Amino acid sequence: MTTPELTEDENLGLYQRATERGAEWWRVSVADRPETYRLEHGMGDGRGAAVDIDLVVDAENLRAKLKKWRREGFAIDSGDTPNDLASAARIAFMPELQRLAAQAAAAASHRHAQQAQPTVRIGHVEVPCGVDNPLVPRINPAYLFSERFNDIVEDIVENRRVMLIGHTGAGKTSLIEQVAARSHHGVLRSNMNGQTTVGDFVGFWTVKGGETLWVDGVLPSAMREGLWLIVDEIDFAEPSILAALTAVLEPQGRLVLKEKGNEIVAPHPAFRLFATANAVGAMGQFRHLYQGANLMNEAFLDRWRVYLLDYLSPAEETDVLVRTLAPHMTRTLAATLAAIAADCRAAFAREDLSSAFSTRRLLDWAELMLRTGDPERAAAPAIYAKVSPEDAALIRGIIRHHIAPAA
Ligand SMILES: Nc1ncnc2c1ncn2[C@@H]1O[C@H](COP(=O)(O)OP(=O)(O)OP(=O)(O)O)[C@@H](O)[C@H]1O
Ligand SMILES: [Mg+2]
Repeated sequence: MTTPELTEDENLGLYQRATERGAEWWRVSVADRPETYRLEHGMGDGRGAAVDIDLVVDAENLRAKLKKWRREGFAIDSGDTPNDLASAARIAFMPELQRLAAQAAAAASHRHAQQAQPTVRIGHVEVPCGVDNPLVPRINPAYLFSERFNDIVEDIVENRRVMLIGHTGAGKTSLIEQVAARSHHGVLRSNMNGQTTVGDFVGFWTVKGGETLWVDGVLPSAMREGLWLIVDEIDFAEPSILAALTAVLEPQGRLVLKEKGNEIVAPHPAFRLFATANAVGAMGQFRHLYQGANLMNEAFLDRWRVYLLDYLSPAEETDVLVRTLAPHMTRTLAATLAAIAADCRAAFAREDLSSAFSTRRLLDWAELMLRTGDPERAAAPAIYAKVSPEDAALIRGIIRHHIAPAA
């Protein structure tokens, strides 16, 4: 057997063998210093296959390892058969991805440490602060940042276009507002399910004191002033508004004001664009509940990071109830109320109920119940009057199941 020649990429790759415990592999890659090689070892078929040995060796050492591996029955996946190649790639994917993601995170935190701009920590993410202005939302001290929100907050920092989809009252708007409140960014909201015209959105000419003036709509205003714009219920927007939006969906996307002699509006670095929707994409199955919602085409959706925001878990909602209604709400009462909300949502998912049960509705009911001392009386304006008689009867049943009448 000849000693392998160690030229550049030769011998790099994945060596594997089958064992009783499944696949075992060694991966050879180039290390940081010249003439050194990184060897990683792992067991398993790639799903969550973790690296258990990770070392750097010189060329001579690698030659010795290669000999040993050959004796032990390891074979390099050089693409002998398409199947081998596919399985090697499958095994190698996760360890390699995890290494790259760790590198990217380290680079990001380094970049971050070098920036002079003040930041505030939200969840796991350092968010650059804006300047205080009257459009900064008020902080809700009871607001709970769920672990699930970290990716969304990171996308905001990276200046991605974020669309939040989910049932009414799941917390789409408040998530963006609470990130803005804590990082001092002004927020503009524009609701598409109503009278918002392309003039309101983009801008229009008007006559004032005999003079013709251009008035910026919310989109160019937010872009120029570095505000965060939330386009609420985007699935109800008219096509001309979507057309204007599409131009600014790229990170540095500019807006051309055709009506104003093609003036170009470039985005301020602090400008962020968000959308919320109830019945788009993965929520499309609930379109019948949100009448009049439009389907959004895939090319449009692909320009966003789309997050499906579910209701908070019962444990999280218990927390929110206690924090929001402190000091009057106890954990015991809150846990029961959160369980009722969870049961109503389960009934909704089974299509036994036709109305969703929002966090907003739950908080309102709880607040009113603390005032009246009577869950049933509080439920009338907070819940029953908003739903069909059949739904009201079912919800009443769920409530009785959890709360015994007073003696
Ligand atoms: N994580 C949370 N912590 C505390 N309160 C929350 C949280 N999420 C939602 N809420 C409460 O629920 C209310 C409704 O949330 P929000 O208005 O953000 O819902 P939404 O998804 O935008 O609803 P819609 O589709 O009707 O616009 C908020 O005002 C807040 O009181
Ligand atoms: Mg909303």
